[in-house]
Amino acid sequence: MPPGATFLLSHRAAFHRRGIPAGQAAKEMVHVSATPVLALRGVSKRFGAVQALTDVELEVHAGEVVALVGDNGAGKSTLVKTIAGVHPIDEGAIEWEGRKVGINRPHDAQHLGIATVYQDLALCDNIDVVGNLYLGRELRKRGVLDEVEMERRALELLKTLSIRIPSVRIPIASLSGGQRQTVAIARSMLGEPKLVILDEPTAALGVEQTAQVLDLVERLRERGHAVILISHNMADVKAVADKVAVLRLGRNNGVFEVASTSQEEIISAITGATDNAVTRRAARTAEEQK
Ligand SMILES: Nc1ncnc2c1ncn2[C@@H]1O[C@H](COP(=O)(O)OP(=O)(O)OP(=O)(O)O)[C@@H](O)[C@H]1O
Ligand SMILES: [Mg+2]
Repeated sequence: MPPGATFLLSHRAAFHRRGIPAGQAAKEMVHVSATPVLALRGVSKRFGAVQALTDVELEVHAGEVVALVGDNGAGKSTLVKTIAGVHPIDEGAIEWEGRKVGINRPHDAQHLGIATVYQDLALCDNIDVVGNLYLGRELRKRGVLDEVEMERRALELLKTLSIRIPSVRIPIASLSGGQRQTVAIARSMLGEPKLVILDEPTAALGVEQTAQVLDLVERLRERGHAVILISHNMADVKAVADKVAVLRLGRNNGVFEVASTSQEEIISAITGATDNAVTRRAARTAEEQK
C-alpha cells in the first residue's frame, strides 16, 4: 500500500475515534483507492433448476466494510462461495485489483488474498489457541513443531488486533463465543489477506461479545483490509459498515451508503415491499418530518 493510503486510513481512524460515523468520515476524505480490490460484474450462478444468482454486481475497496444483506435464500452464501472458489461462477466476470481473474477453486481465492470465515467456525475445541491459529500451517524447525515461535507469533497477532484472551495456551472450548469468533478471524489474518469475508460473525453472540467482534471489524478496516460482512442484524450493519449491498431473490436490489440511509429503506429493499407495516411507518415518519 502506498504511504499516502496509510495516511488516509489513519486519518479515517481518527474520525472514528472522534465518534463520527464511518460513512461521514468517508465523505470527508479522498477515496482510499479508486480501483476496487474486488469487483463482480454480471455474475450468475445456477444449481440445477435453481437460479441462485442473476447478473450480480458488487464492488469492495481497500479500507471499506461492505455489508451483504438479504432474506433467507437471497443468495448471500452462494455469492460468498463464488468469491471463495467453492462454487465457480457460470456467467459474468470477477475482477481483482482491476484485472479479470478466474476463481475456480478455494486455492485460487487464497492465492489472490481472499480469506473467508464461515459461520461454522471450524475450530478444534480440544486444542489451544496457538494450535488452532496454526492448524494446517504449523511452523517447524528441523522437522519438529516450533511451539515457541508459533506462540510468539500468535501473541503478536492477537496484540496487533487488540484481541484479549486469558491465555493462548487454553483450549478453545474454554473461551466464550465472542472470543472464539475473534480467534477464527485472527486465524484468517495469518495469510495477510487483502479481502476478508465474514459470514454472520455475530449471529450467535450476546451484546458484549458482538461489540468485541465489531471492534475487530473496525480494526481490519483501519489496517486497510477490504471486508464483506454478511449480517441479518441491522444494528451491526449500521454500526460498522460503510456500504450495504442488498440481494433479493438472487439479484441486486440496491447499494446504499449506510450513513445516509434509514434502516427502513434497507429493510424494504430486503423484503422488496412497497406496502407493508415497515414501509408504511417509514413513509409516515418521512411525511411528519417535512
Ligand atoms: N449447493 C446448492 N445446491 C442447490 N441449491 C443451492 C445450493 N446452495 C444454495 N442453493 C440455493 O440457492 C439459493 C440461495 O441460497 P443461499 O444459501 O445463497 O441463500 P442465503 O442468502 O445465504 O440465505 P440464508 O440467509 O438463509 O443463509 C437458495 O434457493 C438455495 O436453495
Ligand atoms: Mg446463507
